[in-house]
Amino acid sequence: MKTTILKINPRKISPKLIKKAAGVIRAGGLVAFPTETVYGLGADVFNEKAVTKIFEVKGRPLDDPLIVHISGREQLKTLIAHIPAPAKKLMNEFWPGPLTIVFEKKNTVPDVVTAGLGTVAVRMPANRIARALIRSAGTPIAAPSANIFGRTSPVKAEHVMKGLGGKVDVVMDGGRCGVGIESTVVEFAGKKVAILRPGGIPLEAIKKVAGKTAVKRTSGKTPGQHPKHYSPKAKVVIAGNTALQPQEVLKKAKGLAGKKVGILCKKEHKKFYSGYDARVLGPADEPAKCAAELFHAFHEFDKDKVDVIIAEAVDEKGLGFAIMNRLKKAAA
Ligand code: TXA
Ligand code: MG
Repeated sequence: MKTTILKINPRKISPKLIKKAAGVIRAGGLVAFPTETVYGLGADVFNEKAVTKIFEVKGRPLDDPLIVHISGREQLKTLIAHIPAPAKKLMNEFWPGPLTIVFEKKNTVPDVVTAGLGTVAVRMPANRIARALIRSAGTPIAAPSANIFGRTSPVKAEHVMKGLGGKVDVVMDGGRCGVGIESTVVEFAGKKVAILRPGGIPLEAIKKVAGKTAVKRTSGKTPGQHPKHYSPKAKVVIAGNTALQPQEVLKKAKGLAGKKVGILCKKEHKKFYSGYDARVLGPADEPAKCAAELFHAFHEFDKDKVDVIIAEAVDEKGLGFAIMNRLKKAAA
């Protein structure tokens, strides 16, 4: 199959190109599109055949449910019957944006989308190209990250092409993703909010809005939360977040003689690693910058054919919690 690349200027979105991509969705095709978090691989949520193709081209197990993307709240009624009060609060605060909410689903949502669960995960992306595509298609779009299963999520169209070029109908190139890691996934259990996957909206921000409702950090039990994930081709090892971190990194690097080593470090530590292929994640106190750099750096190291990435652990504050979640899974 020939994959068509549609280059779209995010500041001047071409209605003609949006229409073209939306036509492919309506016809049951697969379209990779940019979101503010990572690129998604989309299909019409109500077209079972098209959704099944997503799993095939990604090599994704069928027990891993997909996130459904909407362009506006009016599309919710096609997916769910009821919005719990605490969910409304979070939607008002964080939509459109990198927050995915798990709701009880209507029967009209195909089982293949939700891996047979009675719930459906929904998000309204902030990226305007994504919303224009969904609006023009006239249907919610089911979309996982646009990568081969288990690999690093794409944050540029070229990353999508590397993994899925020739396997999907269209790749919309809307530039680099600003958030750089996937959305936060939450679920409601009575009045409690459970974080099923940390991501682009920090835990602290959700706590603030959820008020008295407790935020429970769950991990490992969510369907589809496979232990090894987000992996670059290189092996990933993590250096502890201590005062001796640079020394630990250098010790690990010296123990890897004969291997091509890449170092992923805080801006403040770059100076310790001259002579090494070191990439800056960002300043230690700017986790949003670090998150935006993480997957991009993994892809760059892959391009450099690095064998081992030594990554500096960061503070698990704000987006640092999601960064460490991804690093640990990549290192698993
Ligand atoms: O930022 C993102 O969320 C990106 C962009 C494309 O929107 N999408 C993404 O999708 O990361 P994916 O397929 O890589 O991750 C979806 C995860 C599943 O692995 C699962 O953990 C959770 O969302 N999920 C989906 N449906 C669920 C459900 N009904 N109940 C619980 N968790 C669910
Ligand atoms: Mg994914």
